[in-house]
Amino acid sequence: MAVFYDENTRTFKLDAGKASYAFTITPQGDIFHLYYGAHVSDGDLSHLQGRGGGASFCASPADAPEYNLDTSLQEYPGNGLGDFRVAAIAAEEANGASGVRLKYVSHKILQGKPPIPSLPSTYCNHADEAQTLAVATQDAHLGLRVTLYYCAFAQYSVITRWAIAENIGARPIKLQSVQSACVDFDESDYDMISLHGAWIRERAVERHALFHGTQSVGSKRGSSGHQLNPFAVICRKDATEQHGEAYGFQLVYSGNFCIEAEVSQMHTTRVTLGINPTDFAWMLMPGESFASPEAVLGYSDEGIGGLSRTLHRLYRNNLIRGTWKHKTRPVLINNWEATYFDFDADKLVAIAHEAAKTGIDLLVMDDGWFGVRNSDNCSLGDWTVNEDKLGCSLATLAERIKAEGLAFGIWFEPEMISPDSDLYRAHPDWALHIPGRESSLGRNQYVINMCLPEVRDNLFAQISAVLSSADISYLKWDFNRNLTEVFSAGLPPERGREVWHRYILGLYELLERLTEAFPDVLFESCSGGGGRFDLGMLYYMPQTWCSDNTDAVDRLKIQYGTSMAYPIASMGAHVQMNTIHSSRRTSLQFRASVAMAGTFGYELDLTKLSQDDIAEMKAFNEEFRKWQPLIATGDFYRLESPFEGAHTAWMFVAADKSKALLSYFCTFETKNDWRHLLRLQGLNPTARYHVSGYDFILSGDTLMRGGLRMPKQQGDAACVNVMLEACAKLEKTR
Ligand code: DGJ
Repeated sequence: MAVFYDENTRTFKLDAGKASYAFTITPQGDIFHLYYGAHVSDGDLSHLQGRGGGASFCASPADAPEYNLDTSLQEYPGNGLGDFRVAAIAAEEANGASGVRLKYVSHKILQGKPPIPSLPSTYCNHADEAQTLAVATQDAHLGLRVTLYYCAFAQYSVITRWAIAENIGARPIKLQSVQSACVDFDESDYDMISLHGAWIRERAVERHALFHGTQSVGSKRGSSGHQLNPFAVICRKDATEQHGEAYGFQLVYSGNFCIEAEVSQMHTTRVTLGINPTDFAWMLMPGESFASPEAVLGYSDEGIGGLSRTLHRLYRNNLIRGTWKHKTRPVLINNWEATYFDFDADKLVAIAHEAAKTGIDLLVMDDGWFGVRNSDNCSLGDWTVNEDKLGCSLATLAERIKAEGLAFGIWFEPEMISPDSDLYRAHPDWALHIPGRESSLGRNQYVINMCLPEVRDNLFAQISAVLSSADISYLKWDFNRNLTEVFSAGLPPERGREVWHRYILGLYELLERLTEAFPDVLFESCSGGGGRFDLGMLYYMPQTWCSDNTDAVDRLKIQYGTSMAYPIASMGAHVQMNTIHSSRRTSLQFRASVAMAGTFGYELDLTKLSQDDIAEMKAFNEEFRKWQPLIATGDFYRLESPFEGAHTAWMFVAADKSKALLSYFCTFETKNDWRHLLRLQGLNPTARYHVSGYDFILSGDTLMRGGLRMPKQQGDAACVNVMLEACAKLEKTR
């Protein structure tokens, strides 16, 4: 059983994989946190309740003189009534007064996991994969009921949380913050790791010690953003990739978010995560309810690497959905960096012709096929094929690509509208705008108002018509600017701050309709590269374009950072032409070895390559086919970080540890310093592995403890891939 309840002490304990989580109900009904960490055997952990004694200047609730809320470890703290730290929930009543204190009402234990209304979330394939605890709480004064959900996965050290608020009273309630989860740790001796970045420099790893006060990552852009990812790790100071305790906090959400860690005067640490309370408010009329997005809480006592592997497995098996969940993804070629807007059907077919020689599966026609679009200054919203430009219909183009032996994919940017488009001329009010205020342009475009059902219906009809008009098996969904003038006419003024979240709900609704209507189409999400790499998008689209930066050396960092939180099988990665966006020249072997640590593809003009290059690509693609299942489904081990020096190394290890692939990259040659020893990870210590390229047979423990010496790297940007295969008999030992 994953959820235990001790009636005598009114204490809950949840077991999830190798983790336990516990909280208790006080006699007054407050819900106090007890424990989160490695698995413990006892069900009743009420003896851990020790905090909450008086502290100067704190006030105690009238019915609980023995404790105060500011120093208690709480499960879902309110605001304004004595807890002065970050609130999990804040609300205003009709007379303008603020204050929430939620008390326990009842609880239910459910087998499996219920979906969250209108929001993406992790799911169970079978009901026995998880148990969900639903704790009903309420603030009787407000007439506010909040149900706290905790889903404990049996196989993973993961608890997911969300909250559903309901107005059970007679007066309106204005919700000012509804966080997805809050965890009050008893200590503060932790580091925080987060992923920061910018366009073409996404998800760099940053680690710092927690300090007193609040430290947070978040977005107010309307999307999760390039700048800070909705993911953070709180770990012990001695935690490394391989050892130590690490807690992951991540949101299944694509809009404004905040993950905050607050170290208190008592040196406790409160972590809250959810929709960013800035620019948020939600009117809850009597009878209405509001659901928070899901928060994923992962635990590892095998370091940060262990945490990532747990999250990867969860997302591969219990978040990503549909036909492509377990299906081998196509090796694709995208024409963007090959042609930009300058293409027609003949050019694309010529690329497909060369691609077929290398064994590439799919050609993606990127931006520029619709309306009259030949640059980024028009036509978004006019999703009709520009046959004059292509020189044929879409169906004919798809057929011609197919005749070359490739499947066909297409690009859309549905959430945008160009001022110079027929759609905008017909419906200027469909762009997000504030009446009477000039609208901001980003990349010459406005954002379409996804809150409006008529907008979603129009997009659904236009996209469906295109997808039905030709043999299309892939769709890239782009999003190239952040939201401004976030206002939606028609909503009453008191609902003005709902628009940010309503936009995301509208987006999710459209994605649900489209993915249901076209279940066999492979969707890839994109936002000027990796500006919306989040679990919300991953729920609808099993892969996300990592970055517009395809320089392989830079990509080492981008993909390494991304792998902290997201599975390799979700990371779009392509081999670029050496001359694009970079003065750096790297070998095809290097570029392809980096790109294969993702959903492998190409983004270059194959017609400009020599037949020798084509042959080299073919040879690499053939090698890749052998490794592809291992890369897509294996456990990922980060051995050396590109953020720490010239070397990067990572490994993919099969679940049964029967094989592994090691990739080792040296970005610049260091003189007289070549004795590089790598200690491998994740192998079976007692199995013996054949090590390709070395002709060694060595045991897993030797490879992990003694290590493997990497060959001397010649020049900059060198790399080596080593395959390890467990073998039954001893042929040769070293
Ligand atoms: C931004 C994307 O990240 C690129 O891959 C490409 O699709 C362009 N948009 C097209 O405008």
